[in-house]
Amino acid sequence: EPSSTSTTVAADLLVVANRLPVDRVVNDDGSTEWRASPGGLVSALAPVMRKNEGAWIGWPGDTGTEVEPFENDGIALVPVALSDQEYAEFYEGFSNDTLWPLYHDLVAKPSFRREWWDSYVTVNQRFADAAAANAAEGATVWVQDYQLQLVPQMLRELRPDLRIGFYLHIPFPPAELFSQLPWRRQVLEGLLGADLVGFQLSGAAQNFVRLVRQRVGHKTHRDTVYLPDGRVVRARAFPISIDTEGFEELARSEPVETRAAEIRRELGNPSTVFLGIDRLDYTKGIYARLRAFSELIADGELDVEDAVFVQVATPSRERVDQYRRLRDDIDRLVGRINGDLGRIGRPAISYLHSSFPREEMAALYRAADVMVVTPFRDGMNLVAKEYVACRFHEDGALVLSEFAGAADELRQAYLVNPYDINGMKATMMQAHRAEPKELSKRMRAMRKTVTENDVAHWASTFLDSLALDRDAHDKQTRP
Ligand code: F6P
Repeated sequence: EPSSTSTTVAADLLVVANRLPVDRVVNDDGSTEWRASPGGLVSALAPVMRKNEGAWIGWPGDTGTEVEPFENDGIALVPVALSDQEYAEFYEGFSNDTLWPLYHDLVAKPSFRREWWDSYVTVNQRFADAAAANAAEGATVWVQDYQLQLVPQMLRELRPDLRIGFYLHIPFPPAELFSQLPWRRQVLEGLLGADLVGFQLSGAAQNFVRLVRQRVGHKTHRDTVYLPDGRVVRARAFPISIDTEGFEELARSEPVETRAAEIRRELGNPSTVFLGIDRLDYTKGIYARLRAFSELIADGELDVEDAVFVQVATPSRERVDQYRRLRDDIDRLVGRINGDLGRIGRPAISYLHSSFPREEMAALYRAADVMVVTPFRDGMNLVAKEYVACRFHEDGALVLSEFAGAADELRQAYLVNPYDINGMKATMMQAHRAEPKELSKRMRAMRKTVTENDVAHWASTFLDSLALDRDAHDKQTRP
């Protein structure tokens, strides 16, 4: 059984997230190195934490090894270890085979397993213990995402002096779906340990408040929950964003410009490059999107001499059944499409199953004429915002699913229903054929949104709201 770490830091601001911003990777020769972790959470929070001198509590991404707290890139990191069994039950099981599909509209069928729940409780307690041990008196602790929904309540029990915020990066489902969860009440009570519960969209915050009223029986009014002990909990929307300036700067840099040109050359200088970049996840709608594109070629609307679809799929949760099946399905589909429709040196789809550093992503964004982001359900989708940040020439088209949180803000994207293949085909063609003037009008508006609402703005709005409520509360309780 791994125990919590021995050395502690006394931080005034702590982030508690399932993953540390870096993963521990053991190479074939036995040496180890730290690599940037996948996913939107880390790419959003890392720049915030570098600026704030806080501590980050999280799992180092492998199992069994105990690692002492250390510093990386200006952030104090406090590793929390998971055993092999916990990796299977807490991470792959309850987090990613129960909560993940349940919170994403049941795009896949969730498994409800009692031993997975037990492991979820144990691991959440370990994270709460680690946060309690590393927080200074009166510190602010910001707990992240669906893997750690019980931590706020556990932490409050250990350390009532702390100010606790929670942020959910993924959607929060409507009561009709959430209510399937056998442990629904425990999860709601876990979240209510926080002073402020943040969501991507206001609809999610409303789902939460409604469930608290129905299932826990607390009094609520608008965004506020009134607990019997006099404490209040607020539930509000804080749409997450990216380091817009950082991305734009990278996209403007000479090496990225050179690389973008090289990518287009290597693709055979097609007139249109379509691009998809996703974690390989069944919520992302990769299969339907590639089918839509291949039909456009088969129908004669597009020609492989002229158009190519670059799909980057970042490996993710590879031992979970649904993910393994998805990978096989996509391998087969890409093989079939390229076999049927490609020509020598001209595949219809250029498929990459790997992850790339930020520089290469920026080069891909710069090289792409049409960015296609078509999840069936997505909390936000930062790839859509990254594309916009990189298009400083105000060109390029964004095709975006209505079911991505980002669609609420990026209204000028070419919006699609990812379940409607003909609709997606028509909209992809509309984006492909659009006049430069039309594209720049849309891109300019979206760039304004992403520039004004960057990740620093997201974090400060959340943290200010958390602090403000505390000041108001202190005034009320202290005569
Ligand atoms: O943003 C959603 C999220 O699940 C994060 O919590 C997570 O870190 C990221 O996607 C990547 O997934 P994983 O940590 O399971 O590899």
